[in-house]
Amino acid sequence: MRNSIDIFQCPVCCGDLAVENECVLCKENGHRFDIVDDIPLMFVESGEGEHADKITQKVKLFYEENPFPNYDESDNPGLLISKAETSVFAKMLNDELPFNIRILEVGCGTGQMANYLSLAHRYVFGVDLSLNSLLLANNFKKMNSLKRSSFYQMNLFKPIFKIDSFHIVICNGVLHHTHEAYEGLREITKLLKKGGYVVIGLYNRYGRLFTNIRRVIFKLSGSSLHFIDPYLKRKDVAKLKKKTWFLDQYNNPHETTHTFGEVLRWFEQTGIEFISSVPEIGKICPLSDDNKLFSKKSSGNVFSRFITQLTMPFLTNKEGGFFIMIGRKK
Ligand SMILES: C[S@@+](CC[C@H](N)C(=O)[O-])C[C@H]1O[C@@H](n2cnc3c(N)ncnc32)[C@H](O)[C@@H]1O
Repeated sequence: MRNSIDIFQCPVCCGDLAVENECVLCKENGHRFDIVDDIPLMFVESGEGEHADKITQKVKLFYEENPFPNYDESDNPGLLISKAETSVFAKMLNDELPFNIRILEVGCGTGQMANYLSLAHRYVFGVDLSLNSLLLANNFKKMNSLKRSSFYQMNLFKPIFKIDSFHIVICNGVLHHTHEAYEGLREITKLLKKGGYVVIGLYNRYGRLFTNIRRVIFKLSGSSLHFIDPYLKRKDVAKLKKKTWFLDQYNNPHETTHTFGEVLRWFEQTGIEFISSVPEIGKICPLSDDNKLFSKKSSGNVFSRFITQLTMPFLTNKEGGFFIMIGRKK
């Protein structure tokens, strides 16, 4: 944090910060933030009312108890790479992002993506509500002597970074667990430099169909039918990670679902130009590395977006009906 203190701000009053005697101090108004195991504790409530704070607290508690996605005991950088690269999306992200850039991962959970992207000489700042998730992220970083990832406890509605600080902002699977996904997007895109890219992953209203059906089945049948979830029946995933996945997918205290059209509107309202999506709008096929994430694609029309989303339960069932939208700050 000391090396990049210029990009940080106080989450309470936006004042400049200094790191002193194992704590972070606000130079304007003296706000003080402790540091635990290298992680500055800079979470503050959003101040957007009781409803918002209640949701944040519930979600925070949930992820303190169930850090997501968690690590297997044997994980190391080699395994981190091979596991990350079983996801075409993560591999493409890593292949396409340049070196020596500053990336913010909002809602980084246990830091797999942040640690993975930092291996190729990128400075990755991972932030999350959940201190227990961040401790696991930082533990992996320390155990494997990773130098370019760092972790901070932060509420995305009260950023600890100044505007225009990052080349890339990634926010995967997070905004749909907040009280207002659009407001969340507005906050995090302020942190992007002009021309920088935002990558957001959200649950899709149509793509989530099979998960919603399975949720009802699991409620009625208990654990005997867990094999109908493609992730839970995998042989290469440890028990703890399966338990974490189950809770995240079927017992989450708060989730919302969204559509391509909705996010396109949000992009327009926040000065973001649409670049591409996964799945690609108008294409009925899974992501392959022939596609390029950061090359401009068509945003389609109401009909092509609708058809693409209708196919999602069949194409994205394994990921829980997830879609990704990439945009560039104008
Ligand atoms: C489903 S997990 C996703 C973790 C990681 N991005 C991934 O894809 O594996 C959602 C994460 O968002 C974090 N989160 C939720 N609301 C947040 C907020 N207001 N500010 C920061 N992080 C938040 C949670 O603590 C949790 O770690």
